[in-house]
Amino acid sequence: MQRKILFNVTGDDSLTNRKMIRGNVTNLFNLNNVKYQWANKLYRLMMENFWIPEKVSLFDDKRAYAELTPDEQKAYDGILSFLVFLDSIQTNNLPNINEYITAPEVNLVLSIQTYQEAVHSQSYAYIIESIIPVEKRAEIYDKWRTDKVLLERNKYIAEIYQNFIDNQTDKNFARVLIANYLLEGVYFYNGFNFFYNLAARSLMIGTADEIKYINRDELTHCVLFANIIKEIMAEDDTFFSIDEINQMFEKAVEQEIHWSNHIIGNNVSGISESSIEQYTKFIANKRLKDIGLPKLYEGFEKNPYQQLENIADTNGAGSVKGNFFEANVSSYNQSSAIEGWDEI
Ligand SMILES: [Fe+2]
Ligand SMILES: [Fe+2]
Repeated sequence: MQRKILFNVTGDDSLTNRKMIRGNVTNLFNLNNVKYQWANKLYRLMMENFWIPEKVSLFDDKRAYAELTPDEQKAYDGILSFLVFLDSIQTNNLPNINEYITAPEVNLVLSIQTYQEAVHSQSYAYIIESIIPVEKRAEIYDKWRTDKVLLERNKYIAEIYQNFIDNQTDKNFARVLIANYLLEGVYFYNGFNFFYNLAARSLMIGTADEIKYINRDELTHCVLFANIIKEIMAEDDTFFSIDEINQMFEKAVEQEIHWSNHIIGNNVSGISESSIEQYTKFIANKRLKDIGLPKLYEGFEKNPYQQLENIADTNGAGSVKGNFFEANVSSYNQSSAIEGWDEI
């Protein structure tokens, strides 16, 4: 694939010739001239979701942390270690993806996503500094050095991203997009539910509030990648291999279950190895459906943590579910009738 030219004087910004990838735009942001209207809407929603980690009080969580069981503390710390990795690699890698997306309106959304991932790193620093005893803080950042399961996971994701940086083939880019979708759509959620589970027992309420903000952002990122993938599928139905997508989903589900059993397992009230499997396969089925593909896991149609949805508040104001669509891509493709940025 060709990296974009920074200022492409021979570019063509017409909507009829605009493509998600391998297009030829000038790279100027003319936001009165937008093809992918969902990107406008998503940009607005993400900007409205602006939040500041330090505005949430974690004062009570420090005391509550000391009263968690050792297994709950292990899970709390381990999940933070994984989240620290996920947001670090996203902040670093999203600009690499953006170099190859040839829709300016989508470039802007990816830029907003990058800054949100940086805010998530800021929130982990604030959580760790406020709650975790000083002698344990470095362990959270360094856990991958000693925990083989975590290292394997982190390396698997990093390698997919690195392979495209080293070798910019179509196939490698397709893998990067699916890996991003899996990261934003599957990897975070057993961890998020652990925190909501504690909150349901009136434990670590401040942490759950931070996680709610992060969760709200991650769901918009998930929608962003689902839409990028669907638009590319609509523009070139040979770009993705469905077999490869399914294989990547299977690997992600296997790793997510293995990691969640390793760090939570049957040791935390409200969660079990069975609910972890149920939830992970349920969410994978849902993400496949959202990009128009059939489910991989028969019999996994129910969310075992449905009762936590009220705590997560993922349907409320500012949420992607409350504001966005679940329709298929064809309805957004009718956007060539230009409505400007201000219409949204
Ligand atoms: Fe994030
Ligand atoms: Fe994200």
